[in-house]
Amino acid sequence: MSGLKKTATTSAPIHGLIGERWSPRAFADRSVEPEKLRSLFEAARWAASSYNGQPWIFIVGTKDHPEDYKRVLDCFVEFNQSWAKSAPVVALSVAKLKFEHNGEMNRHAFHDVGAAAATLTIQAEALGLAVHQMGGILPEKAREIFGIPEGYEAVAGIAIGYPGEAHTLPDHLKEPEVAPRERKALNSFVFSGKWGKVAPIVGGKP
Ligand SMILES: Cc1cc2nc3c(=O)[nH]c(=O)nc-3n(C[C@H](O)[C@H](O)[C@H](O)COP(=O)(O)O)c2cc1C
Repeated sequence: MSGLKKTATTSAPIHGLIGERWSPRAFADRSVEPEKLRSLFEAARWAASSYNGQPWIFIVGTKDHPEDYKRVLDCFVEFNQSWAKSAPVVALSVAKLKFEHNGEMNRHAFHDVGAAAATLTIQAEALGLAVHQMGGILPEKAREIFGIPEGYEAVAGIAIGYPGEAHTLPDHLKEPEVAPRERKALNSFVFSGKWGKVAPIVGGKP
C-alpha cells in the first residue's frame, strides 16, 4: 500500500477514517477482493435518504471483466479516463429521479446518491481501499451504453482500488497527487441567525 498520507489538518477533532480519506489518482496494480467490494456497496445501501427512497444505482466494472470495465470507463471524460484506467474497479452512480411511493420528482435524488457514495468512500477507507469520485462523466453516453431508462440519470464516476504510488502517474498529475488537501474555514460556511452571520460555535459573535 502507498505510504502517502494526506491527513486533514482540522480545527476540531474528527474520526480518523474521515481525516485520512483522500482522492488519489494513482492506484496499485492489484485487484480488489470481491467481498471487500461487496462491503462498499453494502455500506452505500445503509445511507440515509429522503423517504428512504434509496434512489441510487451503481453500475460496476472490474478489470476481471474487461468488457464491462471498458463500458464504464468509456463514460468518463478523457481526462478522467487517463488516470482512472489504472484503478481495478470503476463505477457509475445513477439517480432515480422520481419517488416510487408517489411518482413525484425527488428533489433530493442527487443528494442521496452523493450520501451513498460518501458512505461507500468511508467504508473503503476502513478497508484500506481508496476511492476517487468524478463529476467528469458523459451522462448521455452512459445512457446509450447501458440503456439507462428515462427517469434515471448518471450522476458521477467512481474509481476504486488500493492506493498506488504518485511516481507512476504522468508528470502533470504528480504534483496534485502529493499536494496537501485544502478546505475552506468553518466560519465561511457555518452560519446562524441570518445568511452570512458566522455561527458562534465556529467563532462568530453570539
Ligand atoms: C462529485 C465529485 C466530482 C468530482 N469530479 C472530479 C473529476 O471529474 N476529476 C477528478 O480528477 N476529480 C474529481 N473529484 C475529486 C475532487 O477534486 C476531490 O474530492 C477534491 O479535490 C478534494 O480532495 P480529497 O477528496 O482528496 O479530499 C470529484 C469529487 C466529487 C465528490
